[in-house]
Amino acid sequence: MIPGSVKKRVFLTGRLHDVVQRDLKKRYSTKVHGGKMPIPRSELLDGVRGAEGLVCFPFDRIDREVIDAADLRVISTYSVGFDHIDVAHAKKRGIKIGYTPDVLSDATADLAFCLMLDSMRRVTEGDRMIRRGGWRSVLGAYDYVGHGMQAKTLGIVGMGRIGRALAKRAAAFGMNITYYSRRRVRGSGARYVPFERLVSESDVISLHVPHTAETDNMIHAGVLKKMKPGAFLINTSRGAVVNERDLAGALRRKVIAGAGLDVFCSEPVGRRHPLAGLQNVVLSPHIGSSTAETRLKMAEITACNLRLGMAGRRPRYSV
Ligand code: DGY
Repeated sequence: MIPGSVKKRVFLTGRLHDVVQRDLKKRYSTKVHGGKMPIPRSELLDGVRGAEGLVCFPFDRIDREVIDAADLRVISTYSVGFDHIDVAHAKKRGIKIGYTPDVLSDATADLAFCLMLDSMRRVTEGDRMIRRGGWRSVLGAYDYVGHGMQAKTLGIVGMGRIGRALAKRAAAFGMNITYYSRRRVRGSGARYVPFERLVSESDVISLHVPHTAETDNMIHAGVLKKMKPGAFLINTSRGAVVNERDLAGALRRKVIAGAGLDVFCSEPVGRRHPLAGLQNVVLSPHIGSSTAETRLKMAEITACNLRLGMAGRRPRYSV
């Protein structure tokens, strides 16, 4: 910062780690939304006015109205997903966009695997049963059985960084791994199969696609009907990839055996959500990237992308 020069304005729709925020404050005139998240729409529109840099979160809708309310150089999102940003409009306006891939692949793959183990071995279901006083006799040979992982077929939809990280974990558990992706991937140890075949042959399907026009509502009643009756669905990608109403119906009628979900069409999810009343589903509150280590790395990359964009350069991880 040259003495006497005016600091450029940066708006953050939520807090990042103190160490990262302190550094941003030295360089820019920062304004941080410290209230409940997501930031209310009117405060977002207000906050972004006059800012040249915007740091946002995956649950903020950064559409044309928000983009046009400011004169931004860069939008830096604290997420790998960027379906909440009107990328085409931002690009038309010459705004750079940064995101945080790579650093969260292991954490998200861990969670997908955790949801898979949990739903197949019925851990959380058992926890709920004990807490409501439902464990009334010791369990015999046929009681409360789950499903093993060994020699089961895992179908990964979307073989990007997270899909590949999940394949590594599944291989260590002796699973057969198939995948469907737009592009074929070498060296993952998984076998490519067409989508229809993956759906009908998998014991577990795990979704790792971004939310786009192509993947919106990808898993609907027609697809669920073609899954094995004993199969499980895991989603750590984006809620809108799955038709939640169809999934709740399929779980209720035992069209499939169970599901593990970290993402939902509208978040946060309350106890009245159609999926929240079902026993054969494990729900987690969108915590795919939520380890202390990963979140700090994401904050550092978000700040790095912002700094580069503010200087008119390409973000380190650029959309
Ligand atoms: C992402 O980074 O897009 C995750 O969904 C946020 O946890």
